[in-house]
Amino acid sequence: MLRNAHILVGICGGIASYKAVELVSQLQQAGALVDVIMTEHAEDFVKPLTFSTMSHRPVYSDLWEATGEAAERHIALAEAAELLAIVPATANTIAKLAHGIADNMLSAVALATQAPLLLAPAMYRDMYTHPATQANLNLLRERGAYIVEPEVGRLASGAIGPGRLPDTEVLLGAMRMVLGQGGDLAGRRVIVTAGGTQEPIDPVRYIGNRSSGKMGYALATEARDRGAHVILISGPVALSAPYGVELRRVETVIQMRDAIHSFITDADVLIMSAAPADFRPARVAAQKIKKDSGEAREREGSGEWSLKLVQNPDILRELAILREDGQPGRHLICVGFAAETHDLMQHAREKLRAKQLDLLVANDVTRSDSGFGTDTNKVLIFHADGAMEDMPVMPKADVAAAIIDRVVSLLGKRVN
Ligand SMILES: Cc1cc2nc3c(=O)[nH]c(=O)nc-3n(C[C@H](O)[C@H](O)[C@H](O)COP(=O)(O)O)c2cc1C
Repeated sequence: MLRNAHILVGICGGIASYKAVELVSQLQQAGALVDVIMTEHAEDFVKPLTFSTMSHRPVYSDLWEATGEAAERHIALAEAAELLAIVPATANTIAKLAHGIADNMLSAVALATQAPLLLAPAMYRDMYTHPATQANLNLLRERGAYIVEPEVGRLASGAIGPGRLPDTEVLLGAMRMVLGQGGDLAGRRVIVTAGGTQEPIDPVRYIGNRSSGKMGYALATEARDRGAHVILISGPVALSAPYGVELRRVETVIQMRDAIHSFITDADVLIMSAAPADFRPARVAAQKIKKDSGEAREREGSGEWSLKLVQNPDILRELAILREDGQPGRHLICVGFAAETHDLMQHAREKLRAKQLDLLVANDVTRSDSGFGTDTNKVLIFHADGAMEDMPVMPKADVAAAIIDRVVSLLGKRVN
């Protein structure tokens, strides 16, 4: 995605300009060709040398070099760019862009380029909420600029409010999303479920599982990077949602099922990478169950406590029945996951058939390089036509890309 992408990063004279150093470094490490353009006031905060060291390329700022080369260069930069990201964007530069003012290298390039424009405003709270700044941002939004909203928090002035530049990871996510518009999932709606579920026993305890959500979040990121509108239905996990995805947080299997049903009608793809619990407590105690309570003393004196469980709905099986009946979701490409500890092949094939999946991704969660909590995965991909692919151990991001490749190919063959 970022490899060899030609990205212009504009730096304005805001206090958050030092944070853009990390962004440029990360882009360069990801293989992007990063040209940095600084405003005159940006150079009051960070020296161009810092950015050129990180980007491994020259930094541009002066439009009026005596040789006249810069005048030509700003057109060349504008034409080569696949994305112009202004990080941080000051109120002043935002105002210039909204009104077509081109009085420095950055604003001239912004006017000359056809590349998508991404702005990350960062400033004092009252500058950001000022009607002039808001009107300028709205004008730019209407013209197709992508605005990464500043975060609410403690600002350099000590004031609390909106105006903080989001973290580098968020900015990178936004850049990847904008670069991916028009990708091979453009116009598609993709539902991804991720993480484990928590089935309450009482207000304090629950039955859960070891799913970290990493595979599902990698899938959501990949689908977003390829232009999809992604709905991420996530159980409780310790991960931040990828930028730009529509997040629905759930705890129980029933909540997960209801969330899926509320999005299914318009969806093109459902990827069930969550690990929903098969069983839930038959009764949820309203108060914390005490060791010496009647409920806990079921077998008095034995030190045992039994919990009565009931079966949870099988979300994919239910959907298969709905799809057979021609209900909404019948054209859906359905991808299931199987986390197995034994007889992986047999269980995977049975699941694929019983749940009428298009793809079933199976992993052996007993391997140390695969399954829950790991950053890599070793999977087998089973296809509805009986084919099976044995994939090598790969980072979860690469496994996600391989799965999305197959989803894209199935969407191409789908008869609506
Ligand atoms: C110490 C200091 C910090 C500033 N921080 C910000 C800021 O975070 N955001 C902003 O919009 N302007 C900030 N300004 C004001 C801009 O530097 C000023 O509007 C300048 O003209 C912006 O120029 P540029 O948009 O060409 O970079 C700050 C000014 C100073 C002196």
